[in-house]
Amino acid sequence: MTKIEQKLFEMAKAVQKNAYAPISKYQVGTAVYTKKGNFYAGCNVEGVTMNNTTHAEMNAIDTMVAAGEKEITKILVLTNSSTPVFPCALCRQKIAEFSHNAQVIATTPKGKLKSSTIESLYPHPFLLKNIGK
Ligand code: THU
Ligand code: ZN
Repeated sequence: MTKIEQKLFEMAKAVQKNAYAPISKYQVGTAVYTKKGNFYAGCNVEGVTMNNTTHAEMNAIDTMVAAGEKEITKILVLTNSSTPVFPCALCRQKIAEFSHNAQVIATTPKGKLKSSTIESLYPHPFLLKNIGK
């Protein structure tokens, strides 16, 4: 891991502990590194109907936007699975909206790591520029 990836991992680990997942018991922590060089983190927050659940990636990205930033360079996702798990389709859409081919890193608590890009995880995204807006 690079220094930036190490920091993303530490931030994701810290926030994963605060995940609110009483239904699935699946705690997720995410940290993003932005074009401006800042870090933001988020965890999943479940709603009892599950429809209004916030995914960890969405939470981290919303925090980034609230801080006035709109471009992700790297995003790291930490779950408690024994093999790295990449973000779901909804989160891939959201990452695509706030990046130009960001690096996406999936990790396990033991630091097992898989790396990809949003373009390869989600080719042909639905973006304003692709619908002529
Ligand atoms: N979850 C995330 O936080 N990110 C994803 O991309 C996949 C799913 C959360 C939502 C829910 O709280 C739990 O994981 C199980 O689906
Ligand atoms: Zn998701």
